[in-house]
Amino acid sequence: MRLDRFLANLPRFSRQDARHLLAEGRIRVDGQAMRAMDCEVRLFSRIELDDEVLQAGKAARYLMLNKPAGCASATRDAVHRTVLDLIAEPDRDELHIAGRLDFNTTGLMLLTNDGQWSRRLTQPSSLQGKVYLVETEDEIDPGCIEAFAQGLYFRFENLTTLPARLELLGPRRARLTLHEGRYHQVKRMFGRFDNKVTALHRESMGPLLLDSALDLGEYRPLTPHEIARI
Ligand code: URA
Repeated sequence: MRLDRFLANLPRFSRQDARHLLAEGRIRVDGQAMRAMDCEVRLFSRIELDDEVLQAGKAARYLMLNKPAGCASATRDAVHRTVLDLIAEPDRDELHIAGRLDFNTTGLMLLTNDGQWSRRLTQPSSLQGKVYLVETEDEIDPGCIEAFAQGLYFRFENLTTLPARLELLGPRRARLTLHEGRYHQVKRMFGRFDNKVTALHRESMGPLLLDSALDLGEYRPLTPHEIARI
């Protein structure tokens, strides 16, 4: 929301008052005097008038979890434990998942209460690469490399997958980089070659790498540098 609208929405100020307060340099946003009416403020912004706090600003949360298998990528589930059950934070119910994983997929999962941040990470236009380690039941057909790079047609969604990079690490092991997140995408891509994915682990999302110090089920807050990279 624009700062002038935020001020004018408070019962005590008219739109004209809001303009005057801004012009006089009496409004601070996150500690900085702000004169621009069109400055965007959010629930996370601390907004002050002289020495009075108009909005304290909610704490923004950004967590990295090493998701274990057997855990639902949901905030609630009637039967299974969810990734939120692994988070011991007072405001965990305000978190959402930025990029789900299947029940038995392990690895990097990001949770936040900042919708703008998670949209930047997951929106299709951002084309952030997601890297997965894949293990398969049968030997991987080397033809997968070219087929995945060309894209596979998924009839159900009537779309062709974006070019994906497959690097063979062993007969039944590979690293796959995707730039989108379709339903069961990795499993369906290997399924096209009649090969079953037996283990799937996400190593990174865009510039964010899973911290190797995190065991399965453990999490930590992102650093300011990691947050700013998205
Ligand atoms: N593709 C899958 O098939 N499963 C996941 O969990 C992620 C990508």
